[in-house]
This record gives sequence, C-alpha cells and structure tokens, in this order.
Amino acid sequence: MSQVKNISDSLKPIVALCKRRGFIYPGSELYGGFANTYSFGPYGAQLKKNLKDLWWQTFVQKRRDMVGLDGPILLHPKAWAASGHLEGFNDALIDCKACKGRFRCDHLIEEALKQDAEGLTIPQMTDLIHSKKVKCPKCAAQDFTDARHFNLMFSTHMSKTGADGDVAYLRPETAQAIFLDYKNIVDTMRVKIPFGVAQIGKAFRNEITPGNFVFRVIEFEQMEIEYFIKESDWERLFVEWLKSMHDWCKLIGLNPARIHEKEHPKEQLSHYSKRTVDLVYDFPFGTSELYGLAYRTDFDLRRHAEFSGQNLEYTDPETREKFIPHVLEPTFGVERTVLALLCDAYDEEQLENGEMRTVLHLHPRIAPVKVAVFPLMKKDPLGPKAKEVFDLLQEMTACEYDESGAIGKRYRRQDELGTPFCVTIDFETIEDGTVTLRERDSMKQERVLIKDLVQILAQKLA
Ligand code: GAP
Repeated sequence: MSQVKNISDSLKPIVALCKRRGFIYPGSELYGGFANTYSFGPYGAQLKKNLKDLWWQTFVQKRRDMVGLDGPILLHPKAWAASGHLEGFNDALIDCKACKGRFRCDHLIEEALKQDAEGLTIPQMTDLIHSKKVKCPKCAAQDFTDARHFNLMFSTHMSKTGADGDVAYLRPETAQAIFLDYKNIVDTMRVKIPFGVAQIGKAFRNEITPGNFVFRVIEFEQMEIEYFIKESDWERLFVEWLKSMHDWCKLIGLNPARIHEKEHPKEQLSHYSKRTVDLVYDFPFGTSELYGLAYRTDFDLRRHAEFSGQNLEYTDPETREKFIPHVLEPTFGVERTVLALLCDAYDEEQLENGEMRTVLHLHPRIAPVKVAVFPLMKKDPLGPKAKEVFDLLQEMTACEYDESGAIGKRYRRQDELGTPFCVTIDFETIEDGTVTLRERDSMKQERVLIKDLVQILAQKLA
C-alpha cells in the first residue's frame, strides 16, 4: 500500500524534501502506508493554514458582498439525490482479470493510446481498451473486464435504526452544505443579491489515482464560494470572478506564466454547469486542473426546492420580484495549491563554491516560517542574546530559533523550509548591537541594529 514507490519521477525531489523537512508525510506510514492519504507535518500544516487564512481574508473579510459558513460533512442523504451526485458522480473503472488491478478508463486510454478520453461513453471505452489491446500497467496482461461506473462518494452508516443503520455520505464537495443553508443565510443575514457564501472544509472522494502525490487524494480540502446572482448578470460576473482567481494566484506568488485557462467543451460539462473554465497549472507531470469556475445556473437551488418541498425563492427588496437565484462557483483545492506552490518554489542552485543548495522560493506571505534566529555559538553571551532577539521578533511574526550545528547547515535547512530571512547573533552583536540579516533568495547579508530589526523586517515581509 506504500504510495511513495508509485509517485511520478518528476515529483520525487519535492516529495523527498516534503518528508525530510516536515511538510508532508505518507499517510499511516507506521502501518506501511494507506494509499492516497497524506499527513501534513508541522511546516505543511502551517503553510496550509497561512493559505486558508489569506483566502478567507481576501474573499470574506475584505469584501462586503461575502459571508462565511462552516457546514457539516454529513448532509441529509436526500441532498445527494437532489444534487445529482448519487446518480451522476461516477468514474468509469475497469479491472484487469489477471492481476485484479483496477484502473480509471480515461487514464488508461490517455496513457496507453495518447488519446483524450473525455466524453467517451462506457461501451466506447470498453471497446477501445479491448480492440486496441491495451496492456495492464501493473502486469502487462491484455485481459480486461468491461468498463463500469463506480460512484465516487464514500458511504457510512448512522447507527440509529438497526445493525446497519441508514446510509449517509461523506460530502464529495463543500458546495452542497452552502446550498442547504442558503435560506438560513438569506433569513438571518442582511445579504442582497449579488452575494456569496464561502466555505473551507474537507471533501472526500473514493478516487483511483495515478500517483501524483497530493494532486489527487481521497480526502482533501476545498475553499469554495457559491455566488448568488440574477440570471442576467452571469456573463459579466463570470469574467470578474475569473480575474479575481488570477489575482489570487498572483497574491500567493504563483508564476502567472504557468497558469492557463481551459474552457470545458459543452459536451463535457458537469451535469449542473452551463459554462466551466479551469485554471490549469504546468505541474512537472503535465498541465492539470488547479481551480475551477463554474456557472451552475439555478440547478442546485431548484433541485433542493423540489426535493425538500421548501420555497427557495429570493424576493428582490426593491422590485419585490421573486426568483430562484443563479450561481457562480469559484472553487480552489487546498492540496493542489500547496503542490503548485511547492513546484513553483522548488529550486536546486549551483553555488559559486561548487556546492548545491536546495531552496524553496516561497512568497513571504505564505512561508511557514518568516524569520529564523541563530546564535553563532550556543554558549554565553551569544545564546542568551539570540534568545532575546528571538523573543522580540516572535511578537511580530512566525519565528524559529536554531542553535544546533554549523551555521552553514542551519542556513541550508531554512532555505529548504522557504524561510525568507535569517538573523545571526555573533560577537560583533555584543560589541555594537548589530546582527547579520540574511535574505534567502539573493543570500545577501547586511548588518542592522537590533533596535531597527522589527521595523526593517516588517517592511521587507510586507
Ligand atoms: N464544487 C465543485 C467541485 O467540487 P471539482 O472540480 O470536482 O469541482 C474542485 O473540485 C477543486 O477541488 C478542484 O479544482 C481541485 O482543486 C480540488 N480537487 C478535486 N478533486 C480533488 C482530489 N481528489 N484531490 C485533491 N484535490 C481535489
């Protein structure tokens, strides 16, 4: 079950750094691993938290047309019938009769036949795989079953009524929790259309994945917005949201040259969407979906009104006109953002002295540690002086104190964590109150007075 050996070669240096430096560990490693699950270690958890905080600040706190929500993972099972997930949220899978390996038909066709499988029906995929004698990627046999649909939702049981109880589903998208509380929000908050509801939370999908690390996992976090609008405004607001999504990518420091828009062809749209544009990113294993923007029309609210028997009409406060709002949905995956940031930031540099340094050029806004403080040596008077400087800086930002090992190794460790600044306390500090301030990307060092340090760092980090 260990997923490390299945990881795509292009990602291996990043995966190794993530493990070595406490960003991301394989899930349940103690028991030999548990496929497609990962643990975010101390620095990965902080990186994720910085991202989610910045997203909330950007899309909720700084906007007057947005409110936040934290809805449940388990929704009433009828919600998934209404949303169309029970019937239509499927992957086409096929089994190898020889080794019992199970594969996604689209991945198999794309990899073996270099052909786009989107839009193909189940019989067409079966036919292609059989007639072109596609080999099993695991055992090379050419003996597949017919393709079948598998629902991607994880189910569980509520033990209310009997041994098995009632079936419930772990949400495969956070969006539906927002639709279920749309009426509560309209009734209790002073929102007027157009307005949006934002949510950050876990989603679960029983996916077969091709081993691209945290790109496709079975448990992940989404940052989603359902933006409620009048139907006539959808095209104008779609363009605005697409721009806001590009602005977000810039804000977190992603290289704009690696981000592109991909329009979904009409015949490949999800059951709820009239238009979807993905922001795709040039990952080392290929260009793939990072985020999505969908025009979900009034599909979800109309279906929930129908299935629940409740009136979900909105009344325009000025005209008293009643209508079911339409919805634009910008959606952002947290793990994919982390992966894109790591791919963008990762670099191996040849230094003038011939050494190699591995560095993460993370934007200071999202870097897990902003400043590291080192005494040149542990002993008096440098250690206590460095702790004083650390206490001072810790009041302003996320700092780390490190006094172990050679100073060069301590710099390298912080480079690999993406820490933008290091402060070193040496004997000159004791004489004249200055410290060395070292910048990660240029590796330039300057002497600055301790009394000016907070202000200088505040400016540089801003
Ligand atoms: N509510 C719409 C929705 O869920 P989606 O394109 O299926 O749309 C939204 O998912 C985002 O969630 C994706 O753009 C991606 O960033 C992230 N995502 C989807 N499936 C994922 C998975 N298995 N692992 C990691 N992230 C995933």
